[in-house]
Amino acid sequence: MDGSFGSVREAIAATAALYERVKTVIPPEEWAGFAGDVLAIQDLKRQRNAIVLAHNYQTPEIFHGVADIVGDSLALAREAATAQADVIVLAGVHFMAETAKLLNPSRTVLIPDLRAGCSLAESITAADVRLLRQKYPDVPVITYVNTSAAVKAESDICCTSGNAKQIVESLGVPQVIMIPDEYLAQNVAAETRVKIIAWKGHCEVHERFTAAEIRAYRAQTPGLVVLAHPECPPDVVAEADFAGSTARMSDYVDTEHPARVLLLTECSMSDNIAARHPDIAFVRPCQMCPHMKRITLKNIRSALETMTHEVTVPDDVAVRARRAVERMMAVR
Ligand code: 13P
Ligand code: SF4
Repeated sequence: MDGSFGSVREAIAATAALYERVKTVIPPEEWAGFAGDVLAIQDLKRQRNAIVLAHNYQTPEIFHGVADIVGDSLALAREAATAQADVIVLAGVHFMAETAKLLNPSRTVLIPDLRAGCSLAESITAADVRLLRQKYPDVPVITYVNTSAAVKAESDICCTSGNAKQIVESLGVPQVIMIPDEYLAQNVAAETRVKIIAWKGHCEVHERFTAAEIRAYRAQTPGLVVLAHPECPPDVVAEADFAGSTARMSDYVDTEHPARVLLLTECSMSDNIAARHPDIAFVRPCQMCPHMKRITLKNIRSALETMTHEVTVPDDVAVRARRAVERMMAVR
């Protein structure tokens, strides 16, 4: 129960309209445990002139209950760049908060749990990029946004899963270095004539899917439509009907409305889309991202109460990292 907002019953009544949006994926007993925090967060956002940006992998009570803006990495970066609010709470992982800070440095950017990292961001350092540059002089470095600001600072341009091929081709060169996701690089390489030098980083979530698993699900479920994130291994992407960023997968379901669908990505994606498509059957051999799951209603509330944890980027790094991110944003 939440003292400042009366009884649980009052909180449930006050959040009834929000609950309507998630009632097919969150049982009422569970919502009873969320309603007080949802109300408190709505109130704190007004007090602090704050907004919550939530990635598509956030749980439904965050995604549908307290987020002002939701989307893939690219959409969140775009929205952060133009946000007018004084405070941006990033319900996602650390690199997303850093990107928001790079693009809108005068705002206070908070992440509810500093441990919300990413296996891709962990896989490479700024020193690694400098060594790559020595090994391949004159080859431009394209860096996936799932990296630290220090790594972005050593790069020519960034990309996301939503624009990777476009960014590779925008440079007009025969060869690029694309770091750190080996599978994303291989998946893009399959679609372009540009030669791509990759790094050995992997997403610990998407690397677990296998082509054999997809074939088994197809055999069990006739008419199954399979959508894959491009961080999946290339043989998995080859088995899928469609591959794209989290936003593209979501759009695919909205527009194509498959009767039965399997999303090869983080578990909350299916829940968040299922909330608005109760008639679609979601087949779920999903994988959980432990980093995304560090973010909860409780720590979003606490972030706004205590104004922690503020994400900052040292000026010398920020100037160079911002250039790489802004160069990406300019490619349309
Ligand atoms: P999207 O940019 O497709 O949302 O994926 C980023 C990601 O992997 C977050 O974990
Ligand atoms: Fe990183 Fe993979 Fe988690 Fe995304 S899903 S934050 S790429 S570990």
